[in-house]
Amino acid sequence: MSQLPGKAISYWIASTPHASNFPSLKNDISVDVAIVGGGIAGITAAMLLKRAGKTVAVIDVQQIATGVSGHTTAKVTSLHQLIYAELMKEIGEIKTQIYADSNQAAVERVAKFVEEEKIDCDFSRRSAYTFAETAENLDAVKAEVEAAVQLKLPASFVTETSLPFAIAGAVKFDNQAQFHARKYLLYLAKLIDGNGSYVFENTRVEKIEEGTPCQVVTAAATVRARDVIVATNIPILDQGLFFAKNYPKRSYIIAARIDPVRAPEGMYIGAGSDYYSIRTTPTSDGGLLLLVGGSGHKVGTITNTEERYQKLEAYARSRFRVEQFEYRWSTQDMVSFDRLPYIGKLTPFNKHVYVATGFSLWGMSKGTLAGMLLSDLILGVDNPWLKLYDSTRATPFLTTESLKNNLEVGFHWLGDRLKGLKNSSLTNVAPGEAKLLTISGNKVAAYRDEQGQLHAISATCTHLGCIINWNSAEKSWDCPCHGGRFSYSGKVLHGPPVKDLEPYKS
Ligand SMILES: Cc1cc2nc3c(=O)[nH]c(=O)nc-3n(C[C@H](O)[C@H](O)[C@H](O)COP(=O)(O)OP(=O)(O)OC[C@H]3O[C@@H](n4cnc5c(N)ncnc54)[C@H](O)[C@@H]3O)c2cc1C
Ligand code: FES
Repeated sequence: MSQLPGKAISYWIASTPHASNFPSLKNDISVDVAIVGGGIAGITAAMLLKRAGKTVAVIDVQQIATGVSGHTTAKVTSLHQLIYAELMKEIGEIKTQIYADSNQAAVERVAKFVEEEKIDCDFSRRSAYTFAETAENLDAVKAEVEAAVQLKLPASFVTETSLPFAIAGAVKFDNQAQFHARKYLLYLAKLIDGNGSYVFENTRVEKIEEGTPCQVVTAAATVRARDVIVATNIPILDQGLFFAKNYPKRSYIIAARIDPVRAPEGMYIGAGSDYYSIRTTPTSDGGLLLLVGGSGHKVGTITNTEERYQKLEAYARSRFRVEQFEYRWSTQDMVSFDRLPYIGKLTPFNKHVYVATGFSLWGMSKGTLAGMLLSDLILGVDNPWLKLYDSTRATPFLTTESLKNNLEVGFHWLGDRLKGLKNSSLTNVAPGEAKLLTISGNKVAAYRDEQGQLHAISATCTHLGCIINWNSAEKSWDCPCHGGRFSYSGKVLHGPPVKDLEPYKS
């Protein structure tokens, strides 16, 4: 493997305490609302519910904000690359206005938390830009400006930016924001804990049963609650079929030291599908890191993921005066087929179990919005924005993208079983190599580490039985069907699976 840029850890995690801040759940407890998942959606909901007088318990399988929210680019904006012109055509002006107003309100909700609680999280107001480097995407950018202005968003068309290269044009949103997502969420989590409310880390929720009260079951104990919010990025419960209403997109970020004098102001993203996302963040030693993200793909469909980092490295070197690469990381988010998140009841039959997913790589605003809407739902506050995001809506199944994706899933389920048919010997796996094998009819995923130790596990995903695929940069086994990920030793890294892969015993 060639040298990859920087240390393999998210800057947000590397620059905050990674050791557990909160205990794991050991005894049964009762609260008003149990919240599964301590990312931006779960923590925002918990914070608002606690403020409204409810007792809450946030339960996370890892540490708070080390999931997607600990690996984000952390731009807090209602400018979601290019969306408004298309939404206007697809769902009409009234609904698009709700999308605009609600996401702007979420940006301001974050700003208000920071101000009210005096949160030290590198929050700063910035302009957000979506730029067309060439004439190719210029019309789309201009259409976005027109739509956004019509929706009374703070939008304008510009041809000059502080990027160190020329662009054909950009849509600019004023008064957006950026922050250190983990500092922000850890601070809120500390405010949530106490006075009958709890935050638990290192606690996997295995089962949720709706009832009076609902039961949130973990290996050690059960949380009883009137209401439950499933904020696990992709819901760990299959009932709402959210794994078929979204697809999981994995994307990559590198962080490089850059001379502050030459750094771009503002937050940028390119137009089109092969885009780069750009922002800077201050470091504790007074320096500045340039973050460049992009190179996304559907989870589990690429094995040579090193190339994705190398592409970002080459881009950063060609466009900016990079001094040194310091960090690299990747993560994934659920992309909704109709471009709207799912916020509301798990299914039309559930009375007290709620979900939030499908933030489509813009969850700093949409995850915050989910927290706002779900807390209103639980508190019985009538919120006119809720209908647009109704998690039980049927439309996503009817989109061409959805049909294509679900056909592809079927293909993976069947076709991937033919992978590794010719490989049947564990001894043929060289150090540093990973292989799918078929041994006595069993699908085996084998990785031999650089020290020569073999890690052989079942290759059949514990979610719905697809065959996993190797991810070389992250040294993980990723599922091409719904984005489940496992470590090379079989531990679940990302839902929807909740069960680890069994070790293979010969
Ligand atoms: C590369 C990339 C860059 C991005 N950049 C931006 C950006 O600049 N701006 C923006 O607005 N959005 C951005 N996003 C999107 C945004 O980061 C996400 O939408 C958001 O962080 C998702 O938050 P969440 O609360 O849904 O998930 P998470 O933060 O993943 O939280 C879910 C939590 O649930 C926990 N969990 C899972 N299963 C269980 C279980 N069984 N029991 C208990 N806990 C469990 C996980 O450990 C996790 O902590 C980006 C996304 C990607 C992929
Ligand atoms: S994530 Fe659904 S089958 Fe693997």
